[in-house]
Order: sequence, then structure tokens, then C-alpha cells
Amino acid sequence: LNYNVNRERRYILQVLFNGLRRLEYRGYDSAGISIDDSPSDPNNPQSSSDSLSLLLSPQHLVFRQEGNIESLVKSVYQEVAETELNLEESFSVHAGIAHTRWATHGEPAPRNSHPQTSGPGNEFLVVHNGVITNYQVLKQTLVRHGFTFESDTDTEVIPKLAKYVFDQANEEGDQTVTFSQVVLEVMRHLEGAYALIFKSRHYPNELIACKRGSPLILGVKEISEDSNHGSAFHDDNFLSKNGHPKELFLSSDANAVVEHTKKVLVIEDGEVVHLKDGGVSILKFEEKGKQGGSLSRVASIQRALSILEMEVEQINKGKYEHYMQKEIHEQPESLTTTMRGRLIRGGSCKAKSVLLGGLKDHLKTIRRSRRVVFIGCGTSYNAALAARPILEELSGVPVTMEIASDLVDRQGPIYREDTAVFVSQSGETADTLQALEYALENGALCVGITNTVGSIIARNTHCGVHINAGCEIGVASTKAYTSQIVVMAMVALAIGGDTISNQARREAIIDGLFDLPKKVREVLKLDQEMRDLAKLLIAEQSLLVFGRGYNYATALEGALKVKEVALMHSEGILAGEMKHGPLALVDENLPIVVIATRDGCFSKQQSVIQQLHARKGRLIVMCSRGDAASVCPGGSCRVIEVPQVEDCLQPVVNIVPLQLLAYHLTVLRGFNVDQPRNLAKSVTTQ
Ligand code: G6P
Repeated sequence: LNYNVNRERRYILQVLFNGLRRLEYRGYDSAGISIDDSPSDPNNPQSSSDSLSLLLSPQHLVFRQEGNIESLVKSVYQEVAETELNLEESFSVHAGIAHTRWATHGEPAPRNSHPQTSGPGNEFLVVHNGVITNYQVLKQTLVRHGFTFESDTDTEVIPKLAKYVFDQANEEGDQTVTFSQVVLEVMRHLEGAYALIFKSRHYPNELIACKRGSPLILGVKEISEDSNHGSAFHDDNFLSKNGHPKELFLSSDANAVVEHTKKVLVIEDGEVVHLKDGGVSILKFEEKGKQGGSLSRVASIQRALSILEMEVEQINKGKYEHYMQKEIHEQPESLTTTMRGRLIRGGSCKAKSVLLGGLKDHLKTIRRSRRVVFIGCGTSYNAALAARPILEELSGVPVTMEIASDLVDRQGPIYREDTAVFVSQSGETADTLQALEYALENGALCVGITNTVGSIIARNTHCGVHINAGCEIGVASTKAYTSQIVVMAMVALAIGGDTISNQARREAIIDGLFDLPKKVREVLKLDQEMRDLAKLLIAEQSLLVFGRGYNYATALEGALKVKEVALMHSEGILAGEMKHGPLALVDENLPIVVIATRDGCFSKQQSVIQQLHARKGRLIVMCSRGDAASVCPGGSCRVIEVPQVEDCLQPVVNIVPLQLLAYHLTVLRGFNVDQPRNLAKSVTTQ
């Protein structure tokens, strides 16, 4: 929302489009936008386009398009030209909304894109992140009240419900029903997770946002010289106190806001943010059991505006062609940031140690827990698996692994005496969140390991560690994976404490951590070699990756990378299970990567290589530098030599060539690296 700034409509469009570009990594199968029409130009001709639905009303222009953001941008400018919409017209107040979608309910199509509408005339428009679980019941009720639905989305019930509530109030003679009253009443009926923004032609120059379960921030930008004073946020009077022109931004994600302002307010569950004429007020929706809730105004929401620490450059590709490529190559720096201030070098009378501020008050409880349960999805799960052996070794506490959805499906046992560690890059994966709720209900100590400050997992766990890898935009996680492993190795060191018996081991790991960015820089030099390998594998149907011990996780994660971006079937295999099935697949055609770097399992991996070789397996062996001759019988296989590091940190080094391989395979096969088919970065629905 833009207040007193007198911006042209073109500017508003650009801000919204750029915001969508910043969020495109969250969803990219369709997109939509709504901006204000000119009140003085109510009768724009209606346009008809097959690919684009353009609905014109005196107050709103709504554009929705299947495909990526650029197809929306192109279509909007095309429609603008055809309808001769004046983009140079300026408004003193302007309210616009936009959305990029990753389909859950309903195929990608303009009618399923957001904003969803209350019907002809677009009286209410809504953009939504999340999922409404009771939408079918609501839909049936609304159909009984005469509404017709055009989309297959869960979201469409929301604007229709808003219209119903508004019409009811007016029929009952309440001409004064406010926008926030309408929204609060709508919230009373919604179940599920959501962050919503409402726009209505009945309330021009206003926007309302609310949330439950899904993230939402408000960014505040004052367009004035002396805009830096005061960082506390007071609802209502914060903005009206000084009449400065201002722009207010609502977003699921700081990425869309940071280029405009770093001052943000993290919106809490149940809060309703009302933007009107440049002012902000925040109401609180108090839930009261299953019977709905009561609506109460919070006297004064007064909490500090957070200052975003990220820089715009972080979310640009810089010299790289793709985000995934950039994120692979920036791992020496991201690992350095992850460890900054957390490793103590020690000295003459001081031992080397680890300092994790977010965990220090809970270390005793964790040490005393009956077990540690790692919980996560996808790459985050794999990172936890990579760290499991070192945590078991240093802490002596049994460690079990849970895929978040599976834990919830089974309602698996979680006890008060357990420490449940939730690993999530985004901090908002729906399955992990549900598992967190479950573990909290069962009384476990909940620890969060996330990359997103202010995320739901960061806020709802008892304690935790941020991995500080910087913003990760490529859908396939790379730098977050290595930073997660490093954080969990540091957690293992912190829990392990300073017993004499493991002092030498602990110091070796700490030295290894200090050295790790340098080693990762070295392994990145394999870039061209991995591209050459990718050229050889370009037409393959399948790739197996064998690993064990510390590198079982590397096998799973390497295969996951190839699968998700290069769209090639790939499977990570625990080498110890080779004879129990996978061996049947081996022939002279199927490429097999075997990870055989130096650690306690090295000789076993040598024997695996022998057995695969005996069956004419087409082998690509990853080994420690200088080991080529001992892993490659008769020089018959292709070898990837990597620098050797402390065994428990070796997964951080070993994954890099496989990330590079997946990246190059994808580019060579002509697929979209950063937005792989059907996948989303943050899976916020179940
Ligand atoms: C999605 C992403 C993966 C990610 C997983 C877990 O599947 O595509 O890259 O590993 O979610 O996400 P989280 O944010 O919880 O780590």
C-alpha cells in the first residue's frame, strides 16, 4: 500500500512484478495481480484473451496467468496496450496485491490462480499462502446460498465468504460494517493454515492481511529524509503520528521486501493487519476452542520493528547463470558465516570449544534425555542423517531418525524425556511443523535448526541454532545442506562437552571445521571435471549412488539432487545392503557412483567396488586424494578425487561434486535448474 507518494500506476506494477520475481522460487506454475483501476475511468473495455483472464471493474484490475512470472508480465503489458490503460496516471493512495502459485488444489490455470474473487464485479479479492482444510464444507454452504464457483481451489471460498458476510451485514441494516470486521468473521470459519491479503472495492485504499500458521511480514518504508528515528512499532499511531508519505509491504517472505525497506514487523498468528490511508492497525483474533472465536482489539501492539540483516545482493544471481550454481559456489563463504563466532580456537590454558548461544541453557537437559530424535524432510532429513553418527559418538545419547510426515502418520512414540531436533531450511515446511506440534503436545524438548530467522520453527521450538547460510533460492537445497551438517556437528560438540576421553577427537573436529571452507574451495575446482562427467551421463535413464557410514547420507542426497533437478531417476543406496537387492541391477550399462573416501568403512567400500567390478559395473568412484590406484581395480573406472577431512566432516566435502554433477546434468539436459518440474522450495501444504 502506497500512501501520499503519488506514484504512477506503472511504478505499482513494477513493484508488484519485482516482488513476484523475488518470490518465484516459492511457486512458479501460475501468477496473478490486482491493481486499482482509475475511479475516473470506470468503463474500460473488457478484453477477452484465451490465455489471460482480465476482469475489469471500476475499482480493480485483475490479471491472472498460467506459467511463470514473465508470462504474467508479458500478458499484462499486452493487455495494457490493447485496452489503452494509462500507466502514467498517479494515485495518492494505491493498494495492489499479487501472488505466485504452486498448485495444490486445482491444475495451473488462470481460473485457479490468485487473486481469487468473490464473483462478478470482484467485490472481494484474496491472495492466499497455505491450505484451507475445511473448504469443502464451506463451499457446500456457500453454494446453498447461491454462490457459483469457477475454480478448483480451496482459496475461492474465502472471498466468497467475505462477500456473504458483507451482504449479510448490509441486509441486516449494518451499513457500517468495517473491512476488518468482515475479515475477522471470515477467519472465524476458516480451518487450516493461511496467510491472506484481502482487497475490496467496498473498501478502496485499504488492504487487510491476516495469518495462522503461514508466515507474513509487514515492511514499512517512509519516504522522507528523517525516516530513521524510532524503531518501536505502535499500532495505529505509528504512521499517522507523522504524516510522511509511505509505502507498506505485506509478504510471505523478506525477499520481496528487502529492496524497499529493511524495517519489518513479523506478524503473529491470529493478528489482523489493517492498512488504510497510510496507517496501520493491528487486531487480534482470539480463538476459543472449536466453537469459533471472539474478536478483540489489542489495545496497543508495541513491539520492535525488526531490521532485516540480508542484503539485496544476496538475492541476486551475481556473476552466475543460476541460483543453484551460485549457491553451490558460495559454500566456502556460507560455511564461514555458519561458524562465525561459534568456534573458540582455545589457547595456552583454554581448550578449543564451541559456543552455541541458542542452546547453552538447554545442554544439560539434552545430555540427560533418553534419546535425540532428528525430524525433517528432503535434504534437511539427509543433513541430519549425515550428522547422526557424530552426535551418537560424542554425546553417547541414542539418536533416531524420523521423516516428519511418517512420524505424524504413525503417531510414533515421542516422550517427555526425548529431545526432538527439527531440521528445516525454510522453517515452515508443513510436515515438519505438524511433527513439531505433535512433539510439543507430547512434552519433548524441541530444538530448531533452521536458516530462516523468525520462521515458525525458529519461534515455536524451545531453543535452537540458526544455520546462517544466507538466503537460499534454488529449489534444490545445496548450501543449506552443508551448513546444516556443520551446525549439527557443532551441536554434537556442544552436547558432548569437554570430557578428557574425547578431547583429542573434539579438537581434531574443531580444527577440521576451521579448515573446511578451504577444503570446499578446493573441491569446487572439480567443476569442469563434473561437467565432463555430466556430458557422459547426459542420456542415461538412471544413476545409482552407493555410500555407507558417514556417507550414506551423501549417497541419498547426491541421488536426490540428480533426481530433483536433472529429472533423471537416481537412487542412493546403503552399500551394506548391496547384496540384498541392488546387485541385481548391476550390468555394464548402468552408471554407479561409489563413495569410498577414507574413514572406518574404507576397506568395506573397497570390497564393494571389487564385487561391482566383478559384475562389470560401470563405476565412478569418489575417493580421497591420492587413493585412485587403491580404489580403481586396473584403472577401469572413472575416479573423482576429493580432499580428505576429518571423517565426520567428509560428507560436507563429498556432496559438492555431486551437487555440481546434478547442476551440469540439468543444464545439459535442458531443464530448469532453479525451478524443477512440480517441485516447490517451501512445501507449506501437506
Ligand atoms: C522441499 C524442497 C527441498 C527441501 C525440503 C524440506 O522438498 O524442495 O529442497 O529439502 O522441502 O524443506 P525445509 O525447508 O524444511 O528444509
